[in-house]
Amino acid sequence: MSAEKKELKASTGVQGLDKMLKGGLIPGRPYVLSGSVGSGRTTLAVQFLQQGVRQGERALLVAIDEPPAEIRENVRYLGWDVGKIRILDVHPTAKAYSRRVAMVEIAAQRAVGSLREAKDDAKTEALKQASPDLSVQSLQLMLKQEFQETRYSRVVIDSLTTLKRLSGDADISMGMMSLLRFLSESNMTCLLVTDVPDITSVEPEIFISRGEIRLHRLMTGTKIERCVTIEKMRGSSHDTVPRPMTIAKEGVQVKAGKKVPKAALTMLQGIPGSLR
Ligand SMILES: Nc1ncnc2c1ncn2[C@@H]1O[C@H](COP(=O)(O)OP(=O)(O)OP(=O)(O)O)[C@@H](O)[C@H]1O
Ligand SMILES: [Mg+2]
Repeated sequence: MSAEKKELKASTGVQGLDKMLKGGLIPGRPYVLSGSVGSGRTTLAVQFLQQGVRQGERALLVAIDEPPAEIRENVRYLGWDVGKIRILDVHPTAKAYSRRVAMVEIAAQRAVGSLREAKDDAKTEALKQASPDLSVQSLQLMLKQEFQETRYSRVVIDSLTTLKRLSGDADISMGMMSLLRFLSESNMTCLLVTDVPDITSVEPEIFISRGEIRLHRLMTGTKIERCVTIEKMRGSSHDTVPRPMTIAKEGVQVKAGKKVPKAALTMLQGIPGSLR
């Protein structure tokens, strides 16, 4: 690839992943960052925003899954200063959207700890009660106001899956389509964090997004193997082979030239919709 073309790409902040993407992401479009629980999505998403900050760009993290203090705490040991990343706190325990008065209120009624222990359905219900006003539509309103004031280059929504679970929107698909269209037209490079999409459902983010990067956390025997796949990437050639990744004190690292261990590959091949 010519240096000129490479310059048009947005670095993900992870060298090996940039190699898989032939330089990085085409800027100004939304992408899905999917993965299973604990697969490293938040870590990678923060790395992506940090990379932007390092290049003098403005970066926004919409924190829904975890309270910002916890995100800061989790990445502090990596030696990253996330101070320059603006964090929009829409976690259910957040107080009303702090900088605005007339904004939709995100009520704080329950302690995070009690939510953590709840089982999935119960957790969703508890989260819903804790954030009765959070919806796809209200988030879009917040973002609209935020973007009017600040020109961001990079945005992460962590996670779209939780937003959907919590959303009180009557028609979630319409709301999601509207939010995704809004993000596409905002000309920012967005990472939309999701769970691994169900192959039988056609989620709007999957067909509207420009591409999908998927992180895998596989239990092979007694060992956890991590790897990354590029499921789709419109308008750009990319690596179609799963590559090993690690999470360590440097954050997410991808070994672009290496193959995943055989046991992990066998597991990946057994996952419906994987390596298709
Ligand atoms: N310094 C480290 N060394 C080794 N592993 C680490 C380190 N830091 C984080 N991890 C691993 O990364 C995982 C968390 O990654 P992260 O929170 O980014 O994943 P996630 O996909 O966002 O998870 P969640 O489903 O909780 O949202 C931890 O569970 C841990 O296994
Ligand atoms: Mg996370």
